[in-house]
Amino acid sequence: MNKWVALLVSVGILAVAAFLIWRKPESGSVARGKAVYATHCLNCHGEKGEGLGKLIPPIQDQNRWEIADLVCSIRYGRKGELQVGGQRYDGIMPPNFELDEGEIRDLVNYVRKEIQTCAQCEEVGLVEVEKNLLNCTLARPLR
Ligand code: HEC
Repeated sequence: MNKWVALLVSVGILAVAAFLIWRKPESGSVARGKAVYATHCLNCHGEKGEGLGKLIPPIQDQNRWEIADLVCSIRYGRKGELQVGGQRYDGIMPPNFELDEGEIRDLVNYVRKEIQTCAQCEEVGLVEVEKNLLNCTLARPLR
C-alpha cells in the first residue's frame, strides 16, 4: 500500500513540475529580439525605430499592427504606398527568409515592447508566430 502512495505522490510532483515548466514565460525573448533587430532592422529603421527621412517610415509608438502584420512583413517584406504622420512612403522592405520562427518571435516581442513601447502587450509565443506565418501571402500589405 505504501508503495502506491509513494508512486502517487511522485507522479503528482512530476505533474506539477511539468506544468510549471510549461507555464514558464519566454523570458529573454525581448533581449534576444534586440540583437536580431540590430542585425536586420536597425540600419534602415534606426535604433529607436525613428526611420530615415522620406525613405524609411518610423515604426515607433504605433500599436496599430496585428501580430500577423508584423510577422508577415518581417518574413516576406513589404511594399506599396504608406502614409505615416503626414509623410508618404513608397519603398520596398526586403524579406528575411533567413530568420527562423524563434527569431521572428523574439523580434516581434522586442519591436512591440521596446520600439513601440507597448506596455500592455503580452509577449507572443512560437505557436502564434507559426500560425500567423501559415496565413501570410507574399508581401502582405499592412493595413
Ligand atoms: C532595407 C531597409 C529596411 C530594412 C532592413 C527593414 N525595413 Fe521595415 N520598412 C522599410 C520600408 C522602405 C518600409 C515601407 C514599405 C512600404 O512603403 O510599404 C518598411 C516598413 C516597415 C513596417 C510597416 C510600417 C508602417 O507604418 O506600416 C514595419 C512594421 C517594419 N518595416 C518593420 C521592420 C522590421 C521589424 C525589420 C527588421 C527585420 C525591418 N523593418 C527591416 C525598410 C526596411
